[in-house]
Amino acid sequence: MAAAPVGRKETRGARRTPLTVRQPTTLPASQQARPAATRAAILGLGVHVPARVLTNDDLAKIVDTSDEWIVERTGIRTRRIAEPDQAASDLAVPASSAALRDAGLSASDLDLIICATTTPDMIFPATACLVQDRIGAAKAGAIDLLAACSSFVYGVITAAQMIESGVAQHVLVVGAEVLSKLVDWKDRTTAVLIGDGAGAAVLGPSQNSGILSSVVGADGSAGDLLKLPAGGSRIPITAEAIQQGLHRARMDGQAVFKLAVRVVPDAIRQTVQKAGLTLDDIDWIVPHQANQRILEAVARAMDLPFGRFICTIDRYGNTSAASIPLSIWEALRDGRIKDGDHLVLVAFGGGFTWAACTLIWGR
Ligand code: UT7
Repeated sequence: MAAAPVGRKETRGARRTPLTVRQPTTLPASQQARPAATRAAILGLGVHVPARVLTNDDLAKIVDTSDEWIVERTGIRTRRIAEPDQAASDLAVPASSAALRDAGLSASDLDLIICATTTPDMIFPATACLVQDRIGAAKAGAIDLLAACSSFVYGVITAAQMIESGVAQHVLVVGAEVLSKLVDWKDRTTAVLIGDGAGAAVLGPSQNSGILSSVVGADGSAGDLLKLPAGGSRIPITAEAIQQGLHRARMDGQAVFKLAVRVVPDAIRQTVQKAGLTLDDIDWIVPHQANQRILEAVARAMDLPFGRFICTIDRYGNTSAASIPLSIWEALRDGRIKDGDHLVLVAFGGGFTWAACTLIWGR
């Protein structure tokens, strides 16, 4: 494929060089950025978080922790927590409706709904089907996608492929999580990290913007680092499973931390290279928000200024599949992300899974 100019804003600051997409000659054709005409872009974004705010001081009344420890070790100050009767779909529906409004589309325009969630309302029907019914997207297919905290980026990449291949024109990807329902509120190592929320993106075809490249990965041998043992077909929920606490999420925090710091820089570099760009061309990295120290370590490992990472963990904690759309939304609201900016979305999580994509923001 010939080098193609990229429709983006003027260069900002000294680190910029006049920009054209450079296709590295070392990459096979199948790994090169796609022509603009077949790109899929995020046309609209919407979020919804529960009203209830839980502070670190509130948590210190439940488990043996402190505001000082949580801020220093994680960067988290507050998080939103769902009400007892609020499930994932209750957050997904308003986020999805807001994304459709933002895109100027209606539910009947959707061909597919992908609900990215580790905390579905129930195992089946898929939460995507519940959303499809409640927003009135009668024409749309609906599936749940479970790659833990990587689910939203996996969903965006899947949606882009469906659009680029012509299988679908408009796809809703909604990351909706209520981790508060699965966490062990007596375990201070996980309880202080999580938050609830939803963020939705409507994807459709675009001439000038959209997804340039993507990377997905997994290492199933590291599955035990982060898991919810009971509730599936291996260990159904029984009184005994509950007695043993197997219905609550478990994590080896230090091991997850180290794996994330190893995997995330590689995923970023790979997607940027596939897009025919260099790290200097990237305006914003929008990472999954698990721990601010992980993001700082990634920035150091890549020799990138931390200011180029969008970080919203202080307000929301780790909202799993919702963290990236929530972060994009915050950065759009405060004017950091602008049309024409080059973004890398990068996520990692249980499985162990990771996914990244490079895109030009805009419709
Ligand atoms: O979405 C992806 C999934 N999750 C992640 O990415 C999480 C990755 N891991 C992490 O974010 C961090 O490993 C944690 C935040 C979970 C833990 O931070 P850490 O700096 O790795 O702490 P640590 O496990 O090394 O524990 C240090 C100390 C220990 O006490 P001792 O043994 O030194 O006396 C812990 O018992 O901190 C203690 N500790 C706490 N103290 C107060 C652990 N959790 C807490 C707490 N409050 N909440």
